[in-house]
Amino acid sequence: MATIAELRGREVLDSRGWPTVEVDLRCHDGALGRAIVPSGASTGAAEAHELRDGDAKRHDGRGVLRAVAHVDGEIAAALRGMDVADQAAIDGRLIELDGTPNKSRLGANAVLGSSLAAAHAAAASQSIPLWRHLHRLVERSFAGVAPVPNPALPMPMTNAISGGLHAGGNLDFQDVLVMPVGATSLAEALEWIARTYRRLGELLSAAGFEGRLVGDEGGFGPRLDGNEQAIEFVVRAIEAAGLSPGDDVTIALDVAATHFFDGHRYNIRRGGQRESLASGDMIDFIDRIAKRFPIASIEDPLAEEDWPAWTGLTAKLGEKLQIVGDDLIATNPKRLQRAIDERAANAALIKLNQIGTLSETLDAIRLARSAGFRCVVSARSGETEDTTIADLAVATAADQIKIGSIVRGERLAKYNRLLRIAEELN
Ligand code: PGA
Ligand code: ZN
Repeated sequence: MATIAELRGREVLDSRGWPTVEVDLRCHDGALGRAIVPSGASTGAAEAHELRDGDAKRHDGRGVLRAVAHVDGEIAAALRGMDVADQAAIDGRLIELDGTPNKSRLGANAVLGSSLAAAHAAAASQSIPLWRHLHRLVERSFAGVAPVPNPALPMPMTNAISGGLHAGGNLDFQDVLVMPVGATSLAEALEWIARTYRRLGELLSAAGFEGRLVGDEGGFGPRLDGNEQAIEFVVRAIEAAGLSPGDDVTIALDVAATHFFDGHRYNIRRGGQRESLASGDMIDFIDRIAKRFPIASIEDPLAEEDWPAWTGLTAKLGEKLQIVGDDLIATNPKRLQRAIDERAANAALIKLNQIGTLSETLDAIRLARSAGFRCVVSARSGETEDTTIADLAVATAADQIKIGSIVRGERLAKYNRLLRIAEELN
């Protein structure tokens, strides 16, 4: 049994140049685990609390030195001597130590960095890849409650065009994504995505739009006239890549609708005009888009607190479409249970830092799977070279992984990690 000797936090930078928490965890046997916490821009209200310093003199108040100090102080003291492979006990200790419902005292960034560093150190101590260790945790977490899936590569759900809070206010919808559902290997899937992405850039440039400028997750950020035009371009790019839209490659959307909902109405641009839609009209709008394009999955088509509308939309479209709750569910087992009970979605987006520990994330995945919900393991718009989510998606046999686009190093670190895991799986 390897026991925890030391934790050290560090303030490092993410892909937007904002500070974030890195944690090094060392065991008495010398094994080292390191993890870096990501950070969202279109965050849900129900997410765990990201602790920022608020000191305007450093990083515009967004420093994380207080969270780092919690890792070095209270968290290190509480975890020292614990079995590094007993993730449930470690996370239980972290939750108890924090003592708040949303990890606001120590900071979910301090807590998650420590939780994930432990998993990395446990894998290192056993000289096994992280996904293998995580799969053992899945076996323990799922035992007697849900069938344990075999480790498997997820389908990439990859950003083609970026809008919303991830680009320059060009589009209301946050992402138009592609899923290479007809590809027979991960390598082929990535080649199809990359080819489609290049054709998309060429088509946008040829039409006079920005075919080189990219958003936070690497999708193109052209100033288009509306959301439907963005989807049209992506469909044409799939065709220009010599692939069949709907058969080889399907479209996915992240509408991220909370961010244009004012509490009553959805304020959206259509055909160059601003419109204000009630929930029922928004459902009809989504329905028309889903009929018009080869769309397989829609995330956050409605706002995070518009629960009855979610139930209505899922009743209408849930048979043929994957309806993914991101801000709605926030990887929170309680909100997920509500979504299951009210049939408000049929899939859950899974983001580790929305809930703040690895064990609670596995709880959410177990609950989702046992209710027949699909799982999409997702990165955040603010990312780093940390690749933990690639291993998590494989260990939990997630249906899809949403990393961002096929460019930008913080995204490629994860795709390339998946390629290495693909070899290990064989
Ligand atoms: P975020 O975006 O990381 O800015 O929240 C990702 C998403 O909405 O899926
Ligand atoms: Zn989302």
